[in-house]
Amino acid sequence: MDEHSPLHPDRNLALELVRATEAAAIRTTPWIGKGCKNDADGAAVDAMRAFLATVDFDGVVVIGEGEKDRAPMLFNGEHVGTSRGPACDIAVDPIDGTSLTAAGRQNALSVIAVSDRGTMLDASGVFYMDKIVTGPEGKGVVDIRKPIGENLRAYAAATGREVGELRVAVLDRPRHEGLIQEIRDAGAGTRLLLDGDVAGGINAVRPGTRIDLCVGIGGSPEGITTACAVKALGGFMQATPAPRDAAERDRAIASGLDPEKVYELDDLVAGDNTLFVATGVTDGGLVDGVRRDGPVIHTSSIVLRSKSGTVRRISAEHLVSKWW
Ligand code: FBP
Repeated sequence: MDEHSPLHPDRNLALELVRATEAAAIRTTPWIGKGCKNDADGAAVDAMRAFLATVDFDGVVVIGEGEKDRAPMLFNGEHVGTSRGPACDIAVDPIDGTSLTAAGRQNALSVIAVSDRGTMLDASGVFYMDKIVTGPEGKGVVDIRKPIGENLRAYAAATGREVGELRVAVLDRPRHEGLIQEIRDAGAGTRLLLDGDVAGGINAVRPGTRIDLCVGIGGSPEGITTACAVKALGGFMQATPAPRDAAERDRAIASGLDPEKVYELDDLVAGDNTLFVATGVTDGGLVDGVRRDGPVIHTSSIVLRSKSGTVRRISAEHLVSKWW
């Protein structure tokens, strides 16, 4: 397809999609810190679905979010958009960090990623994937099959640093105890994430952040949305399905996934036409959270577009009276 064809996701679409993540973040505001993660997620899903319905594109949700917690979700296979315009695959995470939101903790985001139809891996056959994300220097240097210590030494050499300078984001989970120990034994420092490995992955790729690599097992939808962002930022990523038991492994295989395969970035999202948009729900290292100031609600969003390699930040002011 001609890259200028109106049937490709284009730059205008990215700006339309921001309205959906902004809406999800705004509608979540009453639930921040209220201890009700399903209500927060439900508000975000409803807002995102309503806004996506008005966007001129023919989107199919390849991978949605919420199933693992029985939370409300934009379900896999759901058609979104007006059906006019480009045919797209879409991965959504109305809130990455529902527990963070419910607790009023930092780093919750509302996220949408889009690519040309047929280019996004349907990884919904497994809840979790093992992932490794680095800056561009990781290409041909880092390999998820190698021990983390070896990868850290190779990445340090490729980036002209000491291993001791590297900061590695990992979800703080019992399953990562061994991995965390290996990272520290190699001499690197960990940055343990309570939740939210999408922002962790993005910050591993972007220069000038406090994270150099993001590794470990996290959600599959988060893996695919992260891949769209990593592609737009020119970074390195590999992932492999991480079924929790034999039954899930069988379901993964039945769904077309190969549990032994290392999925390279191009396997996670093929082609070079990805859009990634995220709006802050609570304050974080990537974007500020949604904030009410009298009659105005402030939102901060980031838009990444692989075609141009642009990182665009959008701050918007919304009138409370238009929302409630
Ligand atoms: P949700 O808020 O969407 O449930 O995801 C939060 C999150 O921390 C993701 O960022 C991460 O990929 C996943 O959960 C890890 O799953 P688990 O909490 O089961 O370890």
